[in-house]
Amino acid sequence: MTQLQKTRAEDPREFEAPLHGPEAFAGMRRAGRLTADALDLLVEHVRPGVTTQALDRLVATFAHDHGAYSATLLYRGYPHSICTSVNHVVCHGMPNDKPLREGDILNIDVTLIVDGWHGDSSRMYFVGEVPRRAARLCDITYECLERGIAAVAPGRTTNAVGGAIQSLAEAERCSVVRDFCGHGLGRVFHDAPTILHYVEPSYAVPLRPGMLFTIEPMINLGRPQVKVLADGWTAVTRDRSLSAQFEHTVGVTETGVEVFTYSAKGYHKPPYNLAA
Ligand code: MF3
Ligand code: CO
Ligand code: CO
Repeated sequence: MTQLQKTRAEDPREFEAPLHGPEAFAGMRRAGRLTADALDLLVEHVRPGVTTQALDRLVATFAHDHGAYSATLLYRGYPHSICTSVNHVVCHGMPNDKPLREGDILNIDVTLIVDGWHGDSSRMYFVGEVPRRAARLCDITYECLERGIAAVAPGRTTNAVGGAIQSLAEAERCSVVRDFCGHGLGRVFHDAPTILHYVEPSYAVPLRPGMLFTIEPMINLGRPQVKVLADGWTAVTRDRSLSAQFEHTVGVTETGVEVFTYSAKGYHKPPYNLAA
């Protein structure tokens, strides 16, 4: 997700989201599929005792073996191939050598570059059995993303997406993180348009066929405020409440939306029942 740093007026690119053609959609299908495959691969590896560093290496090897690159490795100095955000970490958690513990929930965010196109997706994973409120938060967040995707159609604006997400999250007494947002992408990792996960009447970008972007709501059980730790990356909830996120890369079509990063194995949300 990109950090909101600029006002709309300071970033005129916001008003010029690029419109992409059929080759771009074909490229995004390949990048999206490989990204989803990497997230699928991780399912059987997430369990108590495993380190997020080991998960990082699995994705680095997977990317290498498939002629792909991780977009996050060395992105603005970020030193890892994936982001691993455990429990109250909202996003951009860094893989480390600390073993995962029974009851943890974590988001794994993978961005792979295939033939120059970016696939960007993340899912929640359960480490063993997790507390009910943690599973509930993940369910709500997954449903927020699905409703956001369902709101995408030409003729609507970015606020249709934000509104669908915000209304569900708040009806469930959860909160939407404001400090990070979805983003356009294609051959560029973070491009226009910015996709807010809440309604902002002063920012309404009309959705047009050919736009490519991510939707990646971060939903907290407690308050929406976040802070970034001294490593310069790890964003956590200020009140240390649990946070969850799911992300898909999508394209606007003539009639609606195409999702590039669905799991081929049906690993949409946890608990994942391992295919035989
Ligand atoms: N994949 C993240 C996103 O959804 C971006 C991670 S940038 C990193 O946009 F440097 F933190 F890896
Ligand atoms: Co993203
Ligand atoms: Co991502």
